[in-house]
Amino acid sequence: MPAYAIVGGQWGDEGKGKVVDYLSEKADIVARFAGGNNAGHTVVTNNKEFKFHLIPSGVLWPNVTCVIGNGLVVDPEALLDEIAGFKEHSLDTGRLIISDRAHLIMPYHILIDQLDEDIKSATGTAIGTTGRGIGPAYMDKAGRIGVRMADLLDQSQLRSRLSFILEQKNRLITRVYDGDPVSVDDLYQKCLRWGDALRPFIRQVGPMLLEALSKNQKIILEGAQGSMLDIDHGTYPFVTSSSPTVGGASIGLGISPRYIQEIAGVYKAYTTRVGSGPFPTELDNEVGDAIRERAQEYGTTTGRARRCGWFDAVVARHSVAINGMTSAILTRLDVLDGFSPKICIAYRFNGEVIDNFPASISMLDQIEPVYEDMPAWEQPTVGISDIRDLPENALNYVRRIEYLIGCPISIISTGPSRSETILLHDIL
Ligand code: GDP
Ligand code: IMO
Ligand code: MG
Repeated sequence: MPAYAIVGGQWGDEGKGKVVDYLSEKADIVARFAGGNNAGHTVVTNNKEFKFHLIPSGVLWPNVTCVIGNGLVVDPEALLDEIAGFKEHSLDTGRLIISDRAHLIMPYHILIDQLDEDIKSATGTAIGTTGRGIGPAYMDKAGRIGVRMADLLDQSQLRSRLSFILEQKNRLITRVYDGDPVSVDDLYQKCLRWGDALRPFIRQVGPMLLEALSKNQKIILEGAQGSMLDIDHGTYPFVTSSSPTVGGASIGLGISPRYIQEIAGVYKAYTTRVGSGPFPTELDNEVGDAIRERAQEYGTTTGRARRCGWFDAVVARHSVAINGMTSAILTRLDVLDGFSPKICIAYRFNGEVIDNFPASISMLDQIEPVYEDMPAWEQPTVGISDIRDLPENALNYVRRIEYLIGCPISIISTGPSRSETILLHDIL
């Protein structure tokens, strides 16, 4: 049952791209299952940096087939740009498959996302979305007025479907948001162009993955976002509109959970978050600024400064539990070189200690983290690839996290490149 899920354990940007690329050497297929181009996954190899938004992070390995699953919402313009970028890098995109059931992010979704955030900003309730149309596209999927990849190829129905949808959308855009309407003709022409360009990639994905599984091929299920951005289990409403947790992998690719052999959670050795919402261990001070500058914590997709804070074991235990993580992957340990880090082991609320993650946003705003102080390590960890070379205090830090989250650590990452990786036990 060789499917291996790699999911974010915090609020995204944990280093999933690096980890998926590292593991893909042994994979046959890498499949994205949720989100869209709100994701930004960075892979560094041979001193070249690649940023993936929709194309799975295994693409740099020539034998890997890359799949965009039905669980994604896909902006065709963004995808075509990304494909074109890879042609320039002489990468073979013939290995890319897009599910015919994946939903499209339409220009009106992007418009509504941005108009809606503007309105919310005026009342201080903006989510700080990536502005990529993610929420509105998933709303239409659930509302059953979405457009799927298969619809792009079915020209007999397309125009009437677009007219029907735009009648509703234009009423919303003009009357509620005071925006400019979208033209049916323009959108139809765009869809024809997208259909022509994407036709070679669009296929049914489920049967192809089942066949691969039956042949014992190895499939990496590449998560986007992070468990704390999950629509059900995250810090709602400050979340994304999909399920980045492992449950989303099965739904977002059409394969049974029984094929998933390993569920590895990726965690930064500290914590970051982009956009609004609760963040109990946030360091809104010079230490947080120092981490941001050391690690260049600026968003891969939007360039926004990421909020930085200490490792939160309450958050990590929550994501270990809701995903049933079989192992944890700790990235960016090197960033903490020279710091005397703290680990949040519990929260204090109204004088009481709580050690599970609350649902209430107002409660999350009031809780105080309970910290354990950890000593700085003696030498830098940057680039270390053998556990025996880790300074004692760094190893103690890793072991303490492992103990607190109740999940074995399989990989430690000490830099962005493939070689800057300590493999403790094989995942694939
Ligand atoms: P993703 O969205 O989870 O794939 O993560 P991002 O790519 O958005 O952000 C992670 C950043 O950390 C990228 O710039 C990576 O190149 C970088 N990175 C990953 N692992 C390490 C590591 O162990 N050390 C350092 N210094 N950087 C890392
Ligand atoms: P990767 O895959 C970090 C955040 C946004 C915002 C919230 C909702 O690179 O880890 P959306 O545009 O999805 O409606 O925004 O979710 N967000 C991410 N934060 N990494 C990501 O992806 C994210 N994808 C969405 O900043 O707070
Ligand atoms: Mg990212």
